[in-house]
Amino acid sequence: MSLFDVAAAAMRMLPAETAHRLTIDALKTGIARPEYPIDDPRLAVTLKRSGLKLPNPIGLAAGFDKNAEVIGPMLGFGFGFVECGTVTPRAQTGSPRPRLFRLSEDRAVINRMGFNNEGLGPYVRRLAAARNLGVIGANVGANKDSKDRIADYVAGVKAVWPHCTYLTINVSSPNTPGLRGLQDRGALEELLGRVGEAAKEMDAAVKNRPVFLKVAPDLDDGAIADITDVVGAQTWLSGLIVSNTTIDRPDFLTSPLKSQSGGLSGAPLMEKSTRVLAAFSSELKDTVDLIGVGGIATGADILAKLRAGAQAVQLYSAMVYEGPGIVARLKSELIEIMTASGVVRIADLTD
Ligand SMILES: Cc1cc2nc3c(=O)[nH]c(=O)nc-3n(C[C@H](O)[C@H](O)[C@H](O)COP(=O)(O)O)c2cc1C
Repeated sequence: MSLFDVAAAAMRMLPAETAHRLTIDALKTGIARPEYPIDDPRLAVTLKRSGLKLPNPIGLAAGFDKNAEVIGPMLGFGFGFVECGTVTPRAQTGSPRPRLFRLSEDRAVINRMGFNNEGLGPYVRRLAAARNLGVIGANVGANKDSKDRIADYVAGVKAVWPHCTYLTINVSSPNTPGLRGLQDRGALEELLGRVGEAAKEMDAAVKNRPVFLKVAPDLDDGAIADITDVVGAQTWLSGLIVSNTTIDRPDFLTSPLKSQSGGLSGAPLMEKSTRVLAAFSSELKDTVDLIGVGGIATGADILAKLRAGAQAVQLYSAMVYEGPGIVARLKSELIEIMTASGVVRIADLTD
């Protein structure tokens, strides 16, 4: 058991948000020094549409490093890419506490953080300082009290563009009232139209910034078809990140905290988010890059996301239970799966 595993076990004794803050502070001070492992070349992936090159397909999902404070340490734990945010133009405190809950019995998390973050100023400064450390995604959102939410996305895109490897437009958090309405056909057309203009303007100065749209798992077939149509018409958009947390509460949850409001993530999200990923994949074929998120805790889970159409994956909640050592375990499980299947490239696992 490594020092990080012991620390992760100790953190689980504390309230979830306290443990999270202490972890970020420890990583910032350098008390916890990760190893910066060099990846087995068999794990390298190049996303087909965007050309985004990843040393391995396992990314840190948005929400852990909302303020871009610990990009270096998280890359150091072996993530192939780290997505920071969601950042909003202005700082905001988020929902009242408590707002983060471990559902240990279900290996799940419920959060209603509400985009607590320090705003674009400090975020962009830290992003710029970390720029050359690895593959860094910047996830942008809108302030809760904004009069023109789409303008917030445009401001975010323009501010982070030069300082990240890729961008994510997050329209899928359940904790900002009305935000997910931006996934509806008309609103999404307007959002992507205006963000697309900003992207073209920025691309003229700084090239090669893939842009992803992050969607919710709570979408019926009609909503998936609508999003597919709108996304298909936006040739500048590189792909989708599927998915954010769910507002569903599956019957099989056993934790006494299961009725807390907010977004549910972790193991109980795996099946649903993978189903929605597969639906987008069959609609969009190979025209966009898909990144699969939701419930990943094993190499077999990653394989399921790849088979559902993802080219790369992200995780957050499993790390709450296992600590960052999970990344090394997942990578060795992937190598084992590849060896057993006789394939030499991740992409071949899906054939
Ligand atoms: C505490 C917490 C905060 C999150 N904050 C964000 C966020 O700010 N932006 C975002 O796009 N997703 C956010 N997410 C969603 C995750 O990025 C991810 O999509 C979701 O948790 C499913 O993956 P998982 O089951 O591996 O956790 C958050 C998740 C958690 C648990």
